[in-house]
Formats: sequence, structure tokens, C-alpha cells
Amino acid sequence: MKERRPAAGAVPSILKWTGSKRSQAAEIARLAPPHARYVEPFLGGGAVLYHLAGGGAAASDLYAPLIGFWRMVQAEPDHLVADYAEQWRRLRDDGPGYFYAVRERFNADKRPADLNFLMRTCVNGIVRFSQDGDFNNSFHLSRRGMLPARFAKAVQAWSARIQGVAFAARDYREALAETRAGDFVYLDPPYAGTYQRYIGGIDEAALFAALDQLNRRDVRWALSFDGRRGQTVYRAEVPPALYRRRLSLVSGYSAVAKVLNGPVETVSEALYLSW
Ligand SMILES: C[S@@+](CC[C@H](N)C(=O)[O-])C[C@H]1O[C@@H](n2cnc3c(N)ncnc32)[C@H](O)[C@@H]1O
Repeated sequence: MKERRPAAGAVPSILKWTGSKRSQAAEIARLAPPHARYVEPFLGGGAVLYHLAGGGAAASDLYAPLIGFWRMVQAEPDHLVADYAEQWRRLRDDGPGYFYAVRERFNADKRPADLNFLMRTCVNGIVRFSQDGDFNNSFHLSRRGMLPARFAKAVQAWSARIQGVAFAARDYREALAETRAGDFVYLDPPYAGTYQRYIGGIDEAALFAALDQLNRRDVRWALSFDGRRGQTVYRAEVPPALYRRRLSLVSGYSAVAKVLNGPVETVSEALYLSW
């Protein structure tokens, strides 16, 4: 299957991350109400942050190497670009063995620049961890990684956008506890069926309780939830008392179906709005 090229003005691809909202990000950002501060507690590849990073946003994720990567984009973009260019050359010269050496190094010391390289060159760009938290996806034989010059452009565009953002590696509940009336929160938790692809998972009852707290404190939120792929529904509904509107956004094609060589299915996702 051909990869769809992003539309003009779309979020530049920087860190490949499973569950990325690149295809819906502009739409989600357009729906955002006026707000004092933007908060994104399940950051991943941060597609929506790209649009809403202005004005001192707060962005966090439980996975520390991912936050380390975003801090590099923010504070050391040239270093990140040079590191990637070197890794790209080593892969070209040394072949797949280089990928596996980086994977081993990453599992030992969690260097954020290595996470970026692995995500760009692993099978279908899918995040996958073993039970003890080791990155265990394999090398994508036909994949040589994005050309360094293109990666450099993406890093520059992103770095300029996220200068005022406060990044933190923490559980979403800690991030939500710090929100104030007038903030806007976008939540994109992992799907119920995909916990093994990320470090950590979330308990739905705890998530709903946290949303209820936001409502009581006048913090508006939007939640991507209950992924559907074809006829398969991945999770339960959000309790109706918590939200005002439910929209359905088409998010693209399933990378997982692609990996399993199943039929290519359209993925659409519900977006719940609290206001
Ligand atoms: C579906 S992804 C987010 C994708 C993102 N919207 C994007 O555009 O790339 C979900 C993220 O939640 C993170 N996560 C999982 N459990 C978490 C928790 N308890 N607190 C904060 N983040 C968590 C995962 O590490 C993963 O990056």
C-alpha cells in the first residue's frame, strides 16, 4: 500500500509514533475553544501540539525517552539533526546489523536520539515493547529512513513551534491535576487493545473520574476514544453525562492490518467534546 502524502500545511513528520493523529490534527485544533493554556497529557508524536503549541502549552507522556526526544527538538535541534544524519549514513554503510546494534544500545541506556532512529527504520514504524519494556520491533528491510535533509527541515519547523512548551515525563493524572479553569486539554489515550505497544496502559474508570474532575473545575477537554477498525470496536463508550458532543473523524488506514496482511480497513475515531 502506498503511503498517503500529507496535505499541504499538515504536521511535518518528525517522530513516527503508533496512533499518531497527524491526519486529524488540523481538524481537532480547529475545534479547540479559546483557552488560556493548551495541555496534552498523552503526547506521543504530538500531532495536535504542532497546531496548538503557542502560549505556554504543557505536554507530557508516561514514556520518558519520548519526552527526552521532544526536549532535544526544543533545545538541541542541530545536535539531533547531526545525530540522525550520522545514524542514517551508518545504516546505509553497515546494513541491518547497525539497526540491531542501536536497538541493543537503546534498551540499555534509552538514548532519545536512538528512539527516533529506531522508529524511523523499524517494521512499519510501529512502537512495540516486550513485557520488560524493551523495544523489540525488527528492522524494516526496505526502509532506509527519511533522508537527513528532509528530517532537518521537519526538526527546524517543529523546534520553532515548541519553544514555549513545558515538557514532562509523567502520568496523565499528574498533568490533569495541574490544570486550571480556562485551560483546554486534548487527550489521546492508548486503545484498550493496544496497551502492549506502549509502556503503561490506562484504566478506563480512572480516566472517566479524571474527566469528571475537569468538568467540575471548568477545564474544557476533547478526547479521542473508542477506535473502530472496520467492524471491530475497540472499546466501550464514554459515559454520556461526561460530555456534550461526539464527533466521528476518519483517521486513515490501519497500519496494524497492513502488518498482519489483513484487508486494509478504514479507521475512524470518535472525538468527545466536553462543551
Ligand atoms: C495514542 S498515543 C498518542 C498519540 C499522539 N496523539 C500522536 O499524535 O502521536 C498514546 C500515548 O499515551 C502514552 N501513555 C500511556 N499510558 C499513559 C499514562 N498513564 N499517562 C500518560 N501517558 C501515557 C503512551 O506512551 C503513548 O505515547
